[in-house]
Amino acid sequence: MSQPIIEVRDLVKTFGAVRALDGIGFSISKGEVFTLLGPSGCGKSTTLRIVAGLESADDGDILLNGNPILSIAARINVAPEKRDMGMVFQSYAIWPHMTVAENVAYPLKLRGVGSAEIRDRVTRALDLVDLAAQSDRDAPKLSGGQQQRVALARALVYEPQVLLLDEPLSNLDVKLREQMRFELKLLQERLGLTLIYVTHDQSEALSLSDHIALMNLGRIEQIGVPWDLYEHPKTEFVRDFLGKTVTLPGTIAAIDGATARVTLGGAEGTLTCQANGLDAAAGGAVMVAIRPERVRLGAGEGGANSLTGHVETVLYQGERSECLVRVGRELITVYGPPEAVKLRGRDITLELAPDAISLWPR
Ligand SMILES: Nc1ncnc2c1ncn2[C@@H]1O[C@H](COP(=O)(O)OP(=O)(O)OP(=O)(O)O)[C@@H](O)[C@H]1O
Ligand SMILES: [Mg+2]
Repeated sequence: MSQPIIEVRDLVKTFGAVRALDGIGFSISKGEVFTLLGPSGCGKSTTLRIVAGLESADDGDILLNGNPILSIAARINVAPEKRDMGMVFQSYAIWPHMTVAENVAYPLKLRGVGSAEIRDRVTRALDLVDLAAQSDRDAPKLSGGQQQRVALARALVYEPQVLLLDEPLSNLDVKLREQMRFELKLLQERLGLTLIYVTHDQSEALSLSDHIALMNLGRIEQIGVPWDLYEHPKTEFVRDFLGKTVTLPGTIAAIDGATARVTLGGAEGTLTCQANGLDAAAGGAVMVAIRPERVRLGAGEGGANSLTGHVETVLYQGERSECLVRVGRELITVYGPPEAVKLRGRDITLELAPDAISLWPR
């Protein structure tokens, strides 16, 4: 593997009695989108601000292209403006008394770049975010999405090695946020930008990232590619933070390496499942976890890996229908196609592929 562009090792940060970061470490390759994801207060912004140099740390190291920019042990702390990173905040933080072009030019002026070169680079940056036609307008008079793009152009204009984005889309309405997600991804891919992206929105993280670090209480629970985190969560926190999970109590009937037969208690049935590396023997009590979108709804007799149930009610959502299904004593939520709305009040079978079910300790 080539040298990571950024390496963060064992960051620790306390605010009074709060241990905001409790040993954060990760490395990022050039040209990738690396996302810090997690619930409010888990330490995402603190991590990003320490990488940017806007916040101090109690312990840890950060290397940029192998060179330390922060080392508490070696007393190294490179100033933010010398770290070659651009940052975009949730609040845009564009300057209200300036035009669009003046906003974007500002970081170059600060760095003493000559006026002809500033004109060139501002034009290029505004072209990138499709705002060239707005360059002489007062920045605050633009729409939210346009202001967000001004903030992005201003961070891109001095061509930093790494772009740090803290919830950059969270102030936008849903439609605009989804559109900006595509624009950001296109721009990142076209320019080969390296991004550290902070969000608490799982679908934003899953859709934009090459790697995700899912954080909880100042620690990283799991780092991986989005698909791996979603399909192979290592902890219950990761499993329940990403997507929805239905859990049912069960007992192991037989276990053989990677697969197990499990007898469900309240749902009355036996299923073949992924053992999920669980260290358990026949007779052991387990939780059976099912992703609602991996269940196939059928009529009549089900196959080997199926349960029978009764559809209590259905919530039609346009692109899908959410069915509340009674299986024995359990109520299970299952995502079906839109036309599953017609199953309200019917008896059905739930067909479950073994790899759609995983076992967890109880
Ligand atoms: N300047 C500060 N002074 C005191 N405590 C702070 C300060 N900054 C952050 N904290 C605390 O550190 C913890 C992590 O905060 P941080 O802002 O990094 O969370 P976050 O993951 O970005 O959350 P959010 O999604 O709400 O933005 C929280 O408990 C927060 O209250
Ligand atoms: Mg934050």
